[in-house]
Amino acid sequence: MSRSFKRFALPALVATVLTLPAISAVAFEGVGRVATPSEIAKWDIDVRPDFAGLPAGEGSVVDGETLWIEKCSSCHGDFGDANHVFAPLIGNTTLQDIETGRVAALTQPGVRTTMMKVPTVSTLWDFINRAMPWDKPKSLSPNEVYAIVAYMLSLAEVVPYDFVLNQDNISSVQERMPNRNGMTTDHGMWEIDGKPDTKNKACMKNCKDAAEISSFLPDFARSAHGELVKQNREYGAIRGARTTDEPLNEDMDSATSAPTDLLGANACLGCHGMEAKLVGPGFSEIADKYKDRQDSVTYFSERIRNGGSGNWGAIPMPPQPQLKDEEIKQLADWLAAGAPH
Ligand code: HEC
Ligand code: HEC
Repeated sequence: MSRSFKRFALPALVATVLTLPAISAVAFEGVGRVATPSEIAKWDIDVRPDFAGLPAGEGSVVDGETLWIEKCSSCHGDFGDANHVFAPLIGNTTLQDIETGRVAALTQPGVRTTMMKVPTVSTLWDFINRAMPWDKPKSLSPNEVYAIVAYMLSLAEVVPYDFVLNQDNISSVQERMPNRNGMTTDHGMWEIDGKPDTKNKACMKNCKDAAEISSFLPDFARSAHGELVKQNREYGAIRGARTTDEPLNEDMDSATSAPTDLLGANACLGCHGMEAKLVGPGFSEIADKYKDRQDSVTYFSERIRNGGSGNWGAIPMPPQPQLKDEEIKQLADWLAAGAPH
């Protein structure tokens, strides 16, 4: 996929949908331009295990503590051990683990902290630099990231309290990461011809059980979250299952009151205002235009079922094959009776 296509895919798609018969292919030539090296540099921020990509800088544990309290403790706790926003970052590693490079507590059930799992200090640096604070990612300077990482390492007793972390000594810190030997690449997905560690047999055709795969809502859970058909997105073919016995609309019996649920569930209101023109004409405009027509119910039914274009402009009205006959009748009756008037 070319870069310019990616960038313009969405607007182009919308344009394609709205003007389908008119323009069926959209050209991308001449759209967009090649990113400049300085633009790419702003995105190219990864720091690798061999520290390629690591910006130069330094930060002390002491400065890191101040920054931590200011920018991180509200979510992760003063000592990185809180669990109210995310699993604790620090805790459950020992001096023994720092010696062996394997975190013993990982063999036991219980809390898994970030420091227990992360094998590389570069990952910590990279992640904080790109993603934290959660509410202000990319707001930290390199020196601030160094200081904060130093503070976290001191909480885990990887470095002493008077430590100053920088680009030169960070590889010696790597030698003390508690879980540096705890990761393995000895599994299938690591090799190009490796196999995923799942138990299923691959099957690409005539698969015996495939036809039986389905999903359903058990009866006891059907109404647990109200009427799903009303909660589904308005666009697309999937309308959501009926999950209650309630009528979708109290007004449904009366043909002349607005069938709000039908209009909503079928995305009519995404294109038609009750009064105002949006993508298509307002419903009261439609009702007005055909108010003297004897066969208006038939006419409206046909137009709603099959869609069409040219009566109000070039934008077509898409066909509505999902509607049942009685639903179309209800909509057509409502329009013939004057719609929202
Ligand atoms: C507003 C809340 C909030 C603040 C402030 C915040 N974090 Fe986080 N942090 C999160 C959440 C939520 C996650 C997990 C979601 C994610 O990975 O994006 C997370 C994940 C992390 C992780 C990854 C843990 C893992 O095991 O994947 C690290 C490391 C981290 N934060 C460090 C920091 C540092 C350092 C700061 C301050 C500079 C900070 N956070 C500020 C909410 C916050
Ligand atoms: C994607 C946008 C879109 C959706 C969704 C949509 N319409 Fe339309 N509709 C239009 C447009 C545009 C026109 C005008 C077509 C034309 O110029 O003939 C139109 C025309 C109509 C007409 C005919 C007007 C005439 O002069 O012939 C009726 C009736 C109508 N829509 C009802 C509905 C109903 C009911 C729904 C929901 C079931 C619906 N529309 C959903 C865009 C839409």
